[in-house]
Amino acid sequence: MKGAFITATGTGVGKTWLASALATACVQRGKRVAAIKPIETGVDPDPVDALALARACGNDSLADAPGLYRAKEPLAPYAIEKRGGPSVGSLRALAKRIRELARDADYAIVEGVGGVLVPIDRERTIADLAALLDLQTVVVARNALGVLSYTLTAVEALRKRKISVRAIVLNHVERNHRDDLSRTSNADVLADCFPRIPILRVPRVQSPSDMVDAASQLLNILKI
Ligand SMILES: Nc1ncnc2c1ncn2[C@@H]1O[C@H](COP(=O)(O)OP(=O)(O)OP(=O)(O)O)[C@@H](O)[C@H]1O
Ligand SMILES: [Mg+2]
Repeated sequence: MKGAFITATGTGVGKTWLASALATACVQRGKRVAAIKPIETGVDPDPVDALALARACGNDSLADAPGLYRAKEPLAPYAIEKRGGPSVGSLRALAKRIRELARDADYAIVEGVGGVLVPIDRERTIADLAALLDLQTVVVARNALGVLSYTLTAVEALRKRKISVRAIVLNHVERNHRDDLSRTSNADVLADCFPRIPILRVPRVQSPSDMVDAASQLLNILKI
């Protein structure tokens, strides 16, 4: 299975918007793509991330495919399990299911959940799923004050697990950006810290469809 695993420094930083735009960019290149959110929480009643991804690749049924983890509470899977909710179960089985769903596609685009070390259960994190899938890992980070430490932490955690980061996406999520001086230097500092990891800046946009050009650049970086 070829493709990308989209993880992040945390929740709400733009994984779904980027992954949707990546799927759209793949489709525009005439590729078949399966964009999948294997673990989604806060599903009340719809898996909104999974639906956005599925629509971007023109296959709505991917969002509700059996064998994916869905839970109502907007919490990490381990927190849900501790409250008596569903547990994720075997990550190998989940990885196998993702491969099956992507079988007829040229590329899989898989969105993680939250940040790189979201606990799946007492022992495992979402990074363990990334390792099993062995796709090209992309870290999305919010281009705002604090992102340097968040990104260094995320990359170190992934590397410790032998997952190499293929690109960092600095995403302009915040609205009041004028006051944040860090936005002018974050990319430079990260480029110094990670000379071998391409860093892509994504501007503030109105919708994921405005991110397709940036996503297309990312496809070029990933050679997809
Ligand atoms: N480049 C951008 N420009 C403007 N707004 C953005 C941008 N990227 C993300 N957003 C805003 O941030 C919100 C969160 O983005 P998104 O849902 O992609 O994050 P996520 O990392 O997938 O979150 P989750 O951890 O819940 O899956 C979006 O709903 C949108 O409002
Ligand atoms: Mg998301």
